[in-house]
Amino acid sequence: TKRPILIQGPMPIEAEKFAERLENVEIEESGSTYEFYIGTVNDYPVIVSKTGKGMENTAAATAIAIEKYNPAAIINQGTSGGHDPELNVFDIVIGERTVNIGSMKTGDRAKGEGIEATEWKPMDVMASEGSAGEDPNAEKARYYDADPELLAAAINVKDSYTQGKVVEGTIGSADVWNNEVDRINWFHENFGTSVEEMESASSAMISKAYDVPFLAIRILSNNKTNDGAYNPDTAAANQEYVYEVVKEYIAFL
Ligand code: 5AD
Repeated sequence: TKRPILIQGPMPIEAEKFAERLENVEIEESGSTYEFYIGTVNDYPVIVSKTGKGMENTAAATAIAIEKYNPAAIINQGTSGGHDPELNVFDIVIGERTVNIGSMKTGDRAKGEGIEATEWKPMDVMASEGSAGEDPNAEKARYYDADPELLAAAINVKDSYTQGKVVEGTIGSADVWNNEVDRINWFHENFGTSVEEMESASSAMISKAYDVPFLAIRILSNNKTNDGAYNPDTAAANQEYVYEVVKEYIAFL
């Protein structure tokens, strides 16, 4: 039997549109949060995973899916907030790479010396098995590269999307919703982020731990840098595009 392709979405509006597209669907649950819609696309096994929001839920849902269903590839998709003023609500970012932008080490400041977020440094918890707080090699961001074949499939079907542009970029993840534009610009400049959200880098880390090909695809539902107002309809639009990506990837296999 063929190994399934796993499509992850955090919120109901980010998973159910794709799940409706599946044929022969059966639903399985793990715990109270993790739901799997097990079905097919063009007779190929595809599983839609509603992960719940955030880094922990996503890590758990990813590990559960890999252990239970042995997927051939994982696509994490959903909404995001723009860090690049050139990107508008409804534009889509294909994640050439993902990075955890919540993994940080603060500066050294004694009592009364205050809080200075712009001097924080990225911290790579995978740099070594020693203390990330003491290891100078851990003072860098860890970028997870997209799988080249998944990336190629996504690039091949760019033209199928008509509600905005589709670009390659860097997706930053953390359990933080940034509304300070100076801080958003700081991430854009120091981490090279195109967008932020709360899941992709978590799934990328776990996929890498099991050597499963991974890609993140995120649509902008909001962009503070150019006054792009939140629009929840973007979630469905992204799933339509990801459906095209999946069909293209299946044709490759
Ligand atoms: N910042 C953080 N997360 C965002 N999301 C959409 N826009 C943003 C943003 N600007 C997504 C996250 C999470 C939910 C809150 O929406 O991935 O699942």
